[in-house]
Amino acid sequence: MKKFACIVGARPNFMKMAPILRAFEEHDAETVLIHTGQHYDKNLSDVFFEELGIKKPDVSLGVGSGSHAQQTAKLLTSLEDTFVGAAEQGTGFDRVVVVGDVNSTMAATLAATKLHIPVAHVEAGLRSFDRRMPEEINRIVTDGLSDLLLVSEPSGLENLKAEGHPDDNVKLVGNVMIDTLLRQVAIARQGTLLAELKVEPGTYCVVTLHRPSNVDTAESLGALVDVLVEVSGNLPIVFPVHPRTRARLDSFGLNDRLAQAAGVHILEPLGYNDFLSLTSQARVIVTDSGGLQEESTALEIPCLTMRENTERPVTVTEGTSTLCGSDAGVLHANLEAVLNGSYKTGTCPKLWDGNAAKRIAVELMSR
Ligand code: UD1
Repeated sequence: MKKFACIVGARPNFMKMAPILRAFEEHDAETVLIHTGQHYDKNLSDVFFEELGIKKPDVSLGVGSGSHAQQTAKLLTSLEDTFVGAAEQGTGFDRVVVVGDVNSTMAATLAATKLHIPVAHVEAGLRSFDRRMPEEINRIVTDGLSDLLLVSEPSGLENLKAEGHPDDNVKLVGNVMIDTLLRQVAIARQGTLLAELKVEPGTYCVVTLHRPSNVDTAESLGALVDVLVEVSGNLPIVFPVHPRTRARLDSFGLNDRLAQAAGVHILEPLGYNDFLSLTSQARVIVTDSGGLQEESTALEIPCLTMRENTERPVTVTEGTSTLCGSDAGVLHANLEAVLNGSYKTGTCPKLWDGNAAKRIAVELMSR
């Protein structure tokens, strides 16, 4: 029986790994779920396991937070110990499966490759061509070392070809995050969060911001807060706040400005279903998250992306996303376009059909 080590660490990993674990159940395979503990808060981690029916991790490494070097160093040593320990007991892994672009993804790939364990990377080939983003470094290292590159959108195929990866190692399989979204959306919409917030479907804006370029300076975060407060008069704002952003709002003294605007709802980070109930019924989404660009495209909801570039260009060329940079003026103009009905419509990309994980399991079993 083939044995796969499936690695998760941070919030965006959980919804990607859930359908892969489920798809493996249809095959003669053993999965060992390893949670690095990069995210450890209940509402950034445990709640996703409960709601998405993910099994309890077989191994929990508890690495926690730190600078990039500190966190990556802890990840590398803990993962190496786990891989070596399994091999010493005669239960070593045939392959490591990693998803996405977080520090845990890169560290698992590096540790496994040096131990000669092959690695499959799910969501391979995405490139923002912006090396100031830690995730871009993680993508380049992970793809450089993985021997099976499972791609979610056509740009991934082009990028990997340009980097010289042999065709045999690369396969377009679709988007596992959308597998989870399609499975959960009907359940999510039955939740009571909208009623609790007293917002009507199709009338409000969901905001998420956590990238350093938007939240780490008082100037950029302050300008975004100003726009949100200004539009909140006729477009209620629902803003679940990532811990990193919460810390910045506090230290820049911006909390009061948000709290005093009657139309702004500040929330703790939400679980998967509550968040999907919000996004799937929103008028518009404002975000710097990679995953949410894809989810809004699948949901056909306008997405104003607060980034200069994106590693997910299909969400702009085919989907509902528009890049607004960190420019509060561009954000404002696009919000107006949404409100006056002149914003573009989009279509759902090829193979974002709810069956990506099934294709991945078939591919992994055949190698
Ligand atoms: C990480 C990912 C990012 C992803 C995001 C989703 C990397 C490089 N970044 O960013 O790609 O979009 O997750 O959330 O892997 N913290 C808590 N509780 C936790 C975890 C973190 O309070 O459970 C706080 C800590 O102060 C920590 C900070 O958040 O220092 C940053 O956490 P970290 O894992 O380094 O990166 P994220 O910003 O969460």
